[in-house]
Amino acid sequence: MAAESELALVVRDLTVAYQRRPVLKDVNLSLPEGRLIGIVGPNGAGKSTLMKVVLGMVPRLSGEVWVWGRPPAAARQEIGYVPQRTAVDWDFPTDVLDVVMMGRYGTLGLLRWPGARERELAMAALERVGMAEYARRQISQLSGGQQQRVFLARALAQDARLYFMDEPFAGVDAATERAIVNLLRGLKARGRTVVVVHHDLQTVREYFDWLVLLNVRVMAAGPVERVFTAENLTRTYGGRLGSLAHVAGASPAPLRTSGGD
Ligand SMILES: Nc1ncnc2c1ncn2[C@@H]1O[C@H](COP(=O)(O)OP(=O)(O)O)[C@@H](O)[C@H]1O
Ligand SMILES: [Mg+2]
Repeated sequence: MAAESELALVVRDLTVAYQRRPVLKDVNLSLPEGRLIGIVGPNGAGKSTLMKVVLGMVPRLSGEVWVWGRPPAAARQEIGYVPQRTAVDWDFPTDVLDVVMMGRYGTLGLLRWPGARERELAMAALERVGMAEYARRQISQLSGGQQQRVFLARALAQDARLYFMDEPFAGVDAATERAIVNLLRGLKARGRTVVVVHHDLQTVREYFDWLVLLNVRVMAAGPVERVFTAENLTRTYGGRLGSLAHVAGASPAPLRTSGGD
């Protein structure tokens, strides 16, 4: 077992509740550094909540969270966050460049206005996601895929050591999905840790090298090849897995589903 300071994230006995209803229960998790880590589980499993707890946006009822052996608040500047696109107010009157520069505020300090250097870094990030020509476009005038690219540019501009991305592939076209995957691989190649909430079981094996199966509790976690099994998926999704069971390959055992969605 690696020393705690070498682990990107350690969660111990975490329980989280909204209005007293627990949505995460006794979550224990150790995530290594420098991996592409997928978090997978059904709707309402607590995936977004888990990210928000680490970011300090949702309080814990009990348990501990450590980032590189430090309290998350002490590591916040080194954590990048790409929220679920649908959870953002895209009518907010601001342009693409400003959104990306916001990714730099953490390193700017509160009282300094972004200058030429910040603008340069933001433009470079937009370049990397193929959005440079949209820098002065209002964010309300972007397609879903373009919105997602802007968010990624913002995270890149921040140059974090640990990234949390909430369903970055949701509702994007194939070209954008490719672009995002390449970006994630680039981050990993530079030693960054990227944690991604993902909903497409078909691409889990291809995209990630570490996997967390979550449904209120951690159902399984570890290297993808060990964790991504039909049995674990059935435990995580229950009867709702349906025909997706085959994506885990391997087990010829028939997976029975009991209707549902
Ligand atoms: N702000 C909130 N207030 C009350 N309940 C919430 C809130 N956010 C999420 N929930 C509920 O908590 C559960 C987990 O939500 P979430 O973490 O968004 O799940 P996931 O991202 O896996 O779909 C769901 O039942 C959801 O309805
Ligand atoms: Mg979610």
